[in-house]
Formats: sequence, structure tokens, C-alpha cells
Amino acid sequence: MSIRFAVDVDSGGMNPRRRDTCGNQTDPLPRFLTSFSSVIPSTCFNESLVLTYGMTRSSRSVASPRVVSIADFRALAQRRVPRAVFDYLDGGAEGEVTLRENCRVYDDVTFRPRHAVAVADCNLCTRVLGFDLALPFLLAPIGYSRLMHPVGEVGAARAAGNAGTAYILSTISGHKLEDVKAASTGPVFYQLYLMGGRAAAEAAIERARRAGFSALVVTIDTAVAGIRERDYRNGMKELVSGSVFEKLPFLPQILSRPGWLASFLLDGGLPALPNVVVPGKGPVPLVDVAAALAESTVTWSDLNWIRELWRGPIVVKGILTGEDARRAIDEGAAAISVSNHGGRQLDCVPSSLRALPEVVKAVNGQTEILMDGGIRRGTDIVKALCLGARAVLCGRAYAYGLAAAGEAGVNRAIEILRTDLDRTLTLLGCASVAELDRSYVNVPRTWD
Ligand SMILES: Cc1cc2nc3c(=O)[nH]c(=O)nc-3n(C[C@H](O)[C@H](O)[C@H](O)COP(=O)(O)O)c2cc1C
Repeated sequence: MSIRFAVDVDSGGMNPRRRDTCGNQTDPLPRFLTSFSSVIPSTCFNESLVLTYGMTRSSRSVASPRVVSIADFRALAQRRVPRAVFDYLDGGAEGEVTLRENCRVYDDVTFRPRHAVAVADCNLCTRVLGFDLALPFLLAPIGYSRLMHPVGEVGAARAAGNAGTAYILSTISGHKLEDVKAASTGPVFYQLYLMGGRAAAEAAIERARRAGFSALVVTIDTAVAGIRERDYRNGMKELVSGSVFEKLPFLPQILSRPGWLASFLLDGGLPALPNVVVPGKGPVPLVDVAAALAESTVTWSDLNWIRELWRGPIVVKGILTGEDARRAIDEGAAAISVSNHGGRQLDCVPSSLRALPEVVKAVNGQTEILMDGGIRRGTDIVKALCLGARAVLCGRAYAYGLAAAGEAGVNRAIEILRTDLDRTLTLLGCASVAELDRSYVNVPRTWD
């Protein structure tokens, strides 16, 4: 591991810090060691010393008791990033009915534990699309992750790989898909929007295949972008694409987060979308994504050409009914994801957990079922698995960590969910996630 000095943006550039080759910040070596460094042979002054002091400051800042739950990360994120960025991450569509219900609904399902059962080691492994995962959750596609923290999609993918799980890269990524794939030791899936038109999508699919992406995730619930009222109030569009004059009313919230602002500016400001490249025109600028989405609705008939071009497994994301689940199977989906886009698209649709039983019944074992929405604890994941999901996608749960503390935050968010899962299974008296089923939960009668 080599070390180079870099400016510590979180300390306003006043404090030179060390970074490892991955760009992770490490503590500066203590003064007494650095003063010896000129006389100690470099062979001695190397990895072992760095490892001794190698626990990153960021990791320590998100350790217990500062961060005990995902809710703690949400609060930290709110303090680190400007309101526009936080609300973009946190908010939902219109009255946020579905957003709230996505989280609340887990309270309706209670556990039926098997006590006095000795469970030595819980097995959290599962298999999704033929890939062995060490955890029954994947990291969901989160657009604009690089706005939350410069390490963005690269850091999240690396954290997923290190934890033995998969990462799904959004089309709306600030990092090149090749860099994201290279960062992870685990499977990486590419989430496809038809932004920029079919030619741009074809080019992205081709690049994703060459880079070694393992599956394509086609999101079908974005015929237009949902109206997220917080984004309008915070001037998200003006901040992203407006003139200086239009930005002015919204600048105080940005200036109130100097640490974030410094890291954003040092990262080069607003990135274009390097994976949405219109042939002959170049990368699409990150301006009005809502307008771009409205011009690029995906329909079932698009699945034909996408399947022919991709030839690998396809996940259809955004299923909420048995009918759409059947349709996705007919169109050749290798897996489906029961999802309402984290309550960010059509408001007042059912929570994902509530929609899951209908979909499970309709699918009748014919394809793998993933689900996402409202996962904030390991108990939420266990409930979704009991109701028939093979695995879940976590969205905000890791993105709060990313916004709060970059890659160290994602690592810690994953760790929180992993230990939650382990503890929940032990308390349930269940040795493996593969054994979870309806017999471990009470579900309201009306759900059947
Ligand atoms: C800030 C943000 C950006 C998102 N961007 C995308 C995206 O680009 N593509 C996509 O398919 N889903 C996107 N989603 C939806 C997530 O993939 C996932 O469905 C949702 O976050 C799950 O709900 P949860 O956040 O409550 O876990 C986004 C969600 C959030 C919160």
C-alpha cells in the first residue's frame, strides 16, 4: 500500500492528510513517527506502520456509539450535505404517502420466534442470478450518488464488493461505468434508463458488457419523473442547471455546508453523465434529468431489442402487481424487483412489502423475486425474505452513509445491516436465511 499526501477537504484544506492508493483517508502518522521517517529506512516505514495507524478517521467517525443505526446516518447526512442534496436523497413524490408507508408497513408484520434453539452460526448467504452473495441484500441504483460524496458510485461499488454482495449502478452516474466495475470485487449490475435515446442506451449496454457487468436492470416505473416537491422548493433544478442569477436564492443552503462544497468543487463540480453518450454528441450533461426521462419511456416492446443486445440476465425493476410480474416473465426477465422506486414516482401506490405477496403468488416460483423500499433495519430484510423475496435492494440505507461519510459510511451501513441480520436470525431460532418462510411471521389477515 503506498501513501501520498493529499489535501483534507473536510478540514477546509488546512490539514494535510494521508490517503492510501484507493483514495481512503488515513490518519496522519503521529508526529514522533513522521519526524523519524527521514532516518528510518523506507522498507521499515511501510505497510505495517500504516496498518497500525490505518483505521481511517472516517471509519472512526461512524463507529458506535456515534452511529448505531441507519437513522443515525440519516441525521449525520442531513448535517453534512446541503438541504437540496439531502432532500433529493430523503424525499419522495407528492404527499410522500408511499414513502412513509414503505417504512411503516414493516410494523404490521411481527415475528414468530422459535425459542430455546441453539443457533451457532447464522448463514446469511444467498444466490441471485447464479451469483453467490454473502448477504441477502444488494446495493440499489441511486442516481447522482457523486453529488452526495465525490467517491460516489465507485466507493459504493467497492464497499459492496468488499462485503461480498452486488452493486447496481444507476444510469445517472457521475463515474464511468468501467471505473465502477473495476472498483468492485463482487458482481456489478447496470441499471438502464433509455435516456439520450436508443443509440445512447445501445452504446451503454455494449460498454457494460465489455466492462464485465453481470446483469442489466431495466427500471420500468419512470414514464416521467415523479414530482418531488422538496426538490422544487430547494431549487434542485436551478442549482443543477440554472443561470447564476437563478441560483442566487438557493445559495445560502450550499454555503452553509463548506465541507461538502469544498469537496464538490475539488471534485470538479457538476459532472456530465459519462455513461449516457449520444453518438456524435458526447456525454449528456447532468441538467434536466426529469425532461430526459420523459422522452425515454421504456415499454415492454423495448425488452425485445434490449434482450437481443444484452444476451445476459435481465432484472425488471418496478413491479407492483401480479399482472406486471407475469408480463415480465413472459418478456424473459431472469428476475424481477418489487419496487415503487422508494416512493419517488407514483405516490399512493402500495408499499413494496404489501405488494410482495400478490407478486409471489403470481410468479409461482418461475423467477427470482427481489424487492426494495423502506429497508432500514435487518429485521425489515428478514420480513421481506419471509414473505418470499430472494434478496432485497437497499437504497437510502447505504446512501445516507455515503452522504454522511463517503465509502466509510457505506461500509458501516452494510455492517449495521449485517449484524442486525445475524442477531435477528439468532433470536428467531433460524440458522440460515434460506430457511426463512411465512412460518416465522404473523401477517395481517387482509394481506391474503
Ligand atoms: C436518491 C435516489 C436516487 C435513485 N435513483 C435511481 C435510479 O437512478 N434508478 C433506479 O432504478 N432507481 C433509483 N432509485 C430507487 C432505488 O433504486 C430504490 O428503488 C429505492 O431507493 C428503494 O427504497 P429505499 O430507499 O427506501 O430503500 C433512487 C432512489 C433514491 C433514494
